[in-house]
Formats: sequence, structure tokens, C-alpha cells
Amino acid sequence: MTGKVYLVGAGPGSADLLTVRAMNVLKEADAILYDALVGEEVKALFPPGAELIDVGKRADNHAYPQAEINRMLVDLAHQYRTVVRVKGGDPYVFGRGGEEAETLARRGITVEVVPGISSAIAAPASAGIPVTFRGYASSVTIITGHEDPTKGATALDFRALASLQGTLVILMGIKRLEDNVRALLDNGKAPDTPVAIVESGTTRDERVTVGTLGTIVGLAKQRGVEAPAVIVVGDVVRLREVLGRK
Ligand SMILES: C[S@@+](CC[C@H](N)C(=O)[O-])C[C@H]1O[C@@H](n2cnc3c(N)ncnc32)[C@H](O)[C@@H]1O
Repeated sequence: MTGKVYLVGAGPGSADLLTVRAMNVLKEADAILYDALVGEEVKALFPPGAELIDVGKRADNHAYPQAEINRMLVDLAHQYRTVVRVKGGDPYVFGRGGEEAETLARRGITVEVVPGISSAIAAPASAGIPVTFRGYASSVTIITGHEDPTKGATALDFRALASLQGTLVILMGIKRLEDNVRALLDNGKAPDTPVAIVESGTTRDERVTVGTLGTIVGLAKQRGVEAPAVIVVGDVVRLREVLGRK
């Protein structure tokens, strides 16, 4: 018997932002593999009988290598009827869900994606920042902030990014906040460009820090900003003043 694997997006944190389809699939799960970003509220919905595997951290405190997760998914699909791989946000937005789906599909294992609400859009929205807005931004670009901006050919094109008129959303950017801000400034982005950092967006722990490209690094240090957080760069951040009231 070969089972089916569902790649499920769990949304940005709070359980009520899980889709109905995700809830239905979770109910049927025989085995669930989940990441560090899947919140307690969502984990509380896992069915009691399912085998639960936390691939966020191993006993030695390092995350599982992707190849090992891929292997585990294949093995579980040969043991169980319904295997659910739960990932934060949307599985195909910087979640390596594409690689997992490809591995399974290439081995002839049926895989179905259940899209989730991505933090790239939901965390700014929750903080009162629409990522597009007529007159402010007609485009939104989502990048990883994890890359070393100085690493050359394989790095992101910061000259192009700095020249964008639209909104820039940076995921995984807290560790290298200073490098990313410097790369934008060095490539001509104005120091007074508005920036917001949304930590734990949509959850009870949501916290928002607003500044500019010139001030955000200092503000983030002062306030001890931590991952998971989304960095939003662009004029849309100004809308928080009106739309951020809760
Ligand atoms: C590996 S990426 C996965 C993104 C995910 N697939 C998505 O669509 O939201 C992890 C990054 O997502 C962002 N993130 C995830 N959940 C978040 C939240 N609730 N608030 C702010 N940022 C979040 C952070 O930038 C974090 O470093």
C-alpha cells in the first residue's frame, strides 16, 4: 500500500486562520510531520491517534536536514494511508514545500497541496499594512532575508530591489537585518523609506516596530526584535497609522 501525502499550509499562527480544507485533512491524518513555526493552537487540533513527528528540532537541537525530511515523508507514505506534512504559512512560499512535493511526485506518491495564508501578506495585514494600495504600491515583491547580500552572483539583485517602487516584504530577515538594510541603502534606496517589522503576526504575541531604513536597525536592537518576523519596506507602511488601530 502507498498512502497519500498532503502538504498543508497552517497559516501564520492562530488556529482560526487555518483553512477549512486544512482542518478536514488534519482530522483524517494517520501521521503528521510538522515544523517549528506551527503554533500551539494549531497543534492542539492534531487528532489524538496520529503519529506526531516534530521536524523543527532534533534532540541535538539542530533542525532536520531537508533530505532527511524528504526521506521520512517517503517512508511514512509506505506505512500509512494519510500522511500530513504541516508547514507554517503557505507550503510553497519559502517553505521548501516544492522540494518535498517534487521528491514525492518523482517516486510516484500522490501528493496534494492545501494552500495556507502566508505570513508575507497576513502579518502586514494584521498590523494594518496592506501590501498593495492604489497610489502607494502597485506591486509587492517577497524575498528571503537569509541570503548574504554580499555573496555575489547567487545573491539577490539589490540594485533591482532598491529601484522598485512597490512594496518589499522580507521573510527570514531578522538575523541579517543590518546586512539587508545596508544593501538597500547602498543601492540607492532613500533612508527615509518607511519600514515596519511585524513579529509573530496574527498571534497574541504580535508586536510591530515602525521606523525608516535609516532608523530600523537601531530600533530593532533597542526593542530586542526576534524571529519569526516579517519586514515590510515601502510607503504602504504609512497606512498603519490609520488601519493599525485594533
Ligand atoms: C521558512 S519561512 C516560511 C514562510 C511560510 N511558508 C509563509 O508562507 O508564511 C519562515 C519565515 O516566515 C515568516 N513568518 C512566519 N510566520 C510568521 C508570523 N506569524 N509573523 C511574522 N513572520 C512570520 C518569518 O519571516 C519567518 O522567518
